[in-house]
Amino acid sequence: MARRTTKRTTKKRATKKAAARRTRQAPKMLSDLFLETLKDIYFAENKIIRTLPKMAKAAHSKDLAAAFNKHLRETQGQVKRLDQVFRMLGKPARGRPCEAINGITDEGAEIMKEFKNAPALDAGLLAAAQAVEHYEISRYGTLRTWAEELGMHDAARLLQETLNEEEATDHALTELATSVINLEAEGEYRTAA
Ligand SMILES: [Fe+2]
Ligand SMILES: [Fe+2]
Repeated sequence: MARRTTKRTTKKRATKKAAARRTRQAPKMLSDLFLETLKDIYFAENKIIRTLPKMAKAAHSKDLAAAFNKHLRETQGQVKRLDQVFRMLGKPARGRPCEAINGITDEGAEIMKEFKNAPALDAGLLAAAQAVEHYEISRYGTLRTWAEELGMHDAARLLQETLNEEEATDHALTELATSVINLEAEGEYRTAA
């Protein structure tokens, strides 16, 4: 009995040592986190490129459709900037499935389905688009700061350029929401009530 306990303890110690060795072999650094987050936003931007045309097609307001199409062109440029950052790292440009953007875009798809032809559709599309922009603003702010900390100043400049576009888009959507679309949705609701 005593011998068996000793054997088990020795085995446990060996497993712990192996785990510690593995941790020592691959210390996760800020540069690893930077690369992983870059893959995450690369996936997100490509998903957004597939989603924006659907949102532009669904929008009732011409101004909203135009805003989505404008941001689609910007987003294509943002992917090119990310390609450049991957090149600076000497890594292939590759996305990693990001459940956050999948969830946000799924919500947008649900709105398009549930509010198809409804007066409140554009208000819903705006809200969905702003959720996407806020996610991107958070990610690009982080990536820009990490690039600075890692001494990658050219990458930080590129990420800042994209961050500026995301913030400008968010402001433009807020303008649209307060000027026309939400009022339209509310007006229709009042008429129907
Ligand atoms: Fe973007
Ligand atoms: Fe965006």
